Amino acid sequence: MSTTYGTFPGARPRRLRTTPAMRRMVAEYRLHPSDLILPAFVREGVSEPVPISAMPGVVQHSRDTLRKAAVEAVAAGVSGIMLFGVPEEAKKDALGTAGTDPDGILQVAIRDVKAEVGDELVIMSDLCLDEFTDHGHCGVLDAEGRVDNDATLERYAEMAQVQADAGVHVVGPSGMMDGQVGVIRDALDQTGHEDVSVLAYTAKYASAFYGPFREAVGSSLQGDRKTYQQDPANLRESMRELALDLEEGADMVMVKPALPYLDVLAKVAEAVDVPVAAYQISGEYAMVEAAAANGWIDRERAILETLTGIKRAGANMILTYWATEVARQLG
Ligand code: PBG
Repeated sequence: MSTTYGTFPGARPRRLRTTPAMRRMVAEYRLHPSDLILPAFVREGVSEPVPISAMPGVVQHSRDTLRKAAVEAVAAGVSGIMLFGVPEEAKKDALGTAGTDPDGILQVAIRDVKAEVGDELVIMSDLCLDEFTDHGHCGVLDAEGRVDNDATLERYAEMAQVQADAGVHVVGPSGMMDGQVGVIRDALDQTGHEDVSVLAYTAKYASAFYGPFREAVGSSLQGDRKTYQQDPANLRESMRELALDLEEGADMVMVKPALPYLDVLAKVAEAVDVPVAAYQISGEYAMVEAAAANGWIDRERAILETLTGIKRAGANMILTYWATEVARQLG
């Protein structure tokens, strides 16, 4: 076909952009409330929610307000909730024992949400030690202060069991230890929790965008996580992590953060036949909120644009702190 007739273009893609109805009709990707998963923080020993200054609009929930947030998420059509526990400072120690205490805050939160909404939401839990250790690392340390991979795996196996005992549907190992998915799968199977799924944080990068999360969970981390989380410079490495996680029994895989890693997400999504999640993390949230608060961008449009981009790159599920708000808007 000729592309021009005299001075006129032969093809006019703009015809399909002429009206809102036309644009809606030809849209290739549509966000749906059920694409969304709400990450939520619950803090031990508070009766009122505590605002997180670096994440305006997000709070550390009390047990009561967490239950309310779960009910609101269900009403909006959100699919799941990913729970993070924030223990009392005095309960943190080198091994993160509060993370494996059946009465630890995360286990309490799982039971609370389960009692409130049952199976109406997919209840997920962060399976990692950093919220519970006094040094803030995702694992236990050896005598030289390095994160000890295999000693950490034993702790993760215990965490998987207590979280499953509390009634969680999906565990989300986020510590990037080698072999974590296999050890957790074994621990679940050996304790009668064959039906609990593993959402593997498969490609998790050492990112500056986790900054606000540190405040959200009251982390005391000194140093960084570069010996266990991936280098932002690497793409192929994610495919290796992916192959290992699938081999070890991951039911679903995740890429995190989302926006700076859409190429990784697209490549992972193309390669697998399991559901793929992306986590739009704390710093991605803070960036949009801060720019919007300054009047520099249109908040609602920017939020929908980022989520649509993540879906277009291949995510079936998106963890986002805006989940309930956006689900309401879409509903
Ligand atoms: C580790 C964990 C982190 C996040 C989720 N799980 C922090 C980290 O790896 O440093 C970050 C989530 C966010 O920034 O929104 N338990």
